[in-house]
Amino acid sequence: MSKRWYQENKRDPWRRDAKAKGYRARSAYKLKQIQEKFGILRRGDSVLDIGCHPGGWTQVAIEEVGESGTVIGVDLLSTSPIDGAIVMIGDITEEATIEEIVGHLGGRKLNAVISDISPRLTGRYDTDQAISLELSTMALDVASDLLPPGGSFITKVFQGAGIEGLVDAAKIRFSVVGRYSPTASRTASSETYLICQKRLQKSKNEGTAMEHLQRHLASIGIVVDEDDGRGQETKVGFRKIPKRE
Ligand SMILES: C[S@@+](CC[C@H](N)C(=O)[O-])C[C@H]1O[C@@H](n2cnc3c(N)ncnc32)[C@H](O)[C@@H]1O
Repeated sequence: MSKRWYQENKRDPWRRDAKAKGYRARSAYKLKQIQEKFGILRRGDSVLDIGCHPGGWTQVAIEEVGESGTVIGVDLLSTSPIDGAIVMIGDITEEATIEEIVGHLGGRKLNAVISDISPRLTGRYDTDQAISLELSTMALDVASDLLPPGGSFITKVFQGAGIEGLVDAAKIRFSVVGRYSPTASRTASSETYLICQKRLQKSKNEGTAMEHLQRHLASIGIVVDEDDGRGQETKVGFRKIPKRE
């Protein structure tokens, strides 16, 4: 065993435990802690896991819903097969992915959408946080469309500018919305989880969560970059409007 392996495992008990118990990622413990506190997943539930690779959350979801339940995992990256789950490659921002998910559900209604979605990190916090916020808001839109009244939604989001826009959009869609930071998140991490319970009946003028977020960002002086200067629309990324003197 290398010295580095020994030191990393000594420092990080979640990593050590995940490996010992056969979980594919230490993040499995974040979902376990969320589940312990909020009891989101129940036996027999149908669950969509957004951003499932390599599969730690999917493994925990299967344990919770049991054999009578259904777990569908989706990620941009390929996830090796997990007993008892359907895993697919797909971009959650694309309509074709949603159609494939609905196909896998085969008429069953979802009880919960769980999302640990995260961008490929650039190391520049403002950029990573802006993209995380946008991805989580997209996940909220997917959950809002697919969940019937009473359903639950969890998503990861990085703390920072604009997060209130996401929280407000969640509050008009779910009757109980809160933030929770599991102790299994790394100490230095700025991630938190939005826990949304009891999907409300869809209202006619709900709009999309993304529209809600963009209005909020505009109100605090941040605009979504729609043009990258080369005449191409950028999908993600926000830009601060400099304050006028
Ligand atoms: C932190 S990882 C998830 C870890 C997982 N929960 C586990 O326990 O194994 C975040 C994942 O979000 C995925 N992701 C990012 N953007 C996505 C998108 N547009 N559609 C689907 N998945 C996406 C990434 O590919 C990445 O695998």
